[in-house]
Amino acid sequence: MKRILITGANGLLGQAITSLFKRESDFDLLQSSVEDAPFLDIGLDYIKMDITNKEEVKKTVNKYSPDVILNCAAFTDVDKCETEREQCWRLNVDAIKNLIISARPNNLKIIHYSTDYIFDGKNGPYKEDSIPHPISFYGRSKLASENALIISGVDSIIIRTMVLFGVGIKVKSNFALWMVNNLRNNTPINIVDDMIGNSTMVDDLAYGTLKALERDARGIYNITGADIISRFDFAMILCDVFNFNKTLVRKIKTKDLNQPALRPLNSGLITYKAETELGFKPMDTLEGLRLFKYQLGF
Ligand SMILES: NC(=O)c1ccc[n+]([C@@H]2O[C@H](COP(=O)([O-])OP(=O)(O)OC[C@H]3O[C@@H](n4cnc5c(N)ncnc54)[C@H](OP(=O)(O)O)[C@@H]3O)[C@@H](O)[C@H]2O)c1
Repeated sequence: MKRILITGANGLLGQAITSLFKRESDFDLLQSSVEDAPFLDIGLDYIKMDITNKEEVKKTVNKYSPDVILNCAAFTDVDKCETEREQCWRLNVDAIKNLIISARPNNLKIIHYSTDYIFDGKNGPYKEDSIPHPISFYGRSKLASENALIISGVDSIIIRTMVLFGVGIKVKSNFALWMVNNLRNNTPINIVDDMIGNSTMVDDLAYGTLKALERDARGIYNITGADIISRFDFAMILCDVFNFNKTLVRKIKTKDLNQPALRPLNSGLITYKAETELGFKPMDTLEGLRLFKYQLGF
């Protein structure tokens, strides 16, 4: 039975991975994150572990002897990464080196997540071998983390994904959740129509990860939802699914948001490799949002 150490287990993806793996695999799971206790308490072992602390990572790996480190921890606030660069680099890049240092002598596999933000969004959608060109500090940090893993020679899977949505206990808000929370109170929202890409139901990403692990894959895989649409069209589908008033959604352009970090506009990830090699079958936006609605208890 494989032993899996999950880092960042209290985050959106960490919780989805933990609950799916417990339900659908016989892996021995150890949850870890920076908090004192697991947010998702389903009877699994939990250890407080900060991946930026090299000694803490070493100690945990030596004590628990996992076969796989599944890294769900990251500095995910794209705009804050522009202004809190040191902290962003420490968590998104230096901490990956800590995982590598613990993994290499023990021949462990590392599963790590990356993003379409490693691309500039001039000519998406992108394949696994498209040439990266990040336009934000977050994108640069995630690309550096990919490169650190590849250069290390450690057995690894890098999963690129984008625009996660889903539910979890005490998780940060995400694009779909933010829309639901506003529209259910009839609060108007501004949504960009010039940002194009996939969105990803977090349970689908967890499922794709399980497939990759079961097939002992290695290398880079794109795992996202099936369809590539604008954020505005995503909002329209969400209104259909939740029966919200579409006139509350106003169309705007990304530049009008004046966000600190630049975003790739014409983006998207092509999932053909994961579909053919891993047997991953992505949900489309409609299916993902229907599941999301069910999980929210609407
Ligand atoms: N969300 C998206 O739309 C998206 C898109 C593309 C790629 N990704 C990638 O997918 C992965 C998972 O993202 P997510 O949305 O699940 O992120 P998330 O919800 O922000 O979860 C990250 C978790 O890591 C924890 N963490 C922070 N610092 C840590 C440390 N030093 N040691 C251990 N854990 C730490 C966080 O705790 P605190 O909350 O207490 O800080 C949080 O629970 C990341 O690699 C991200 O870059 C996400």
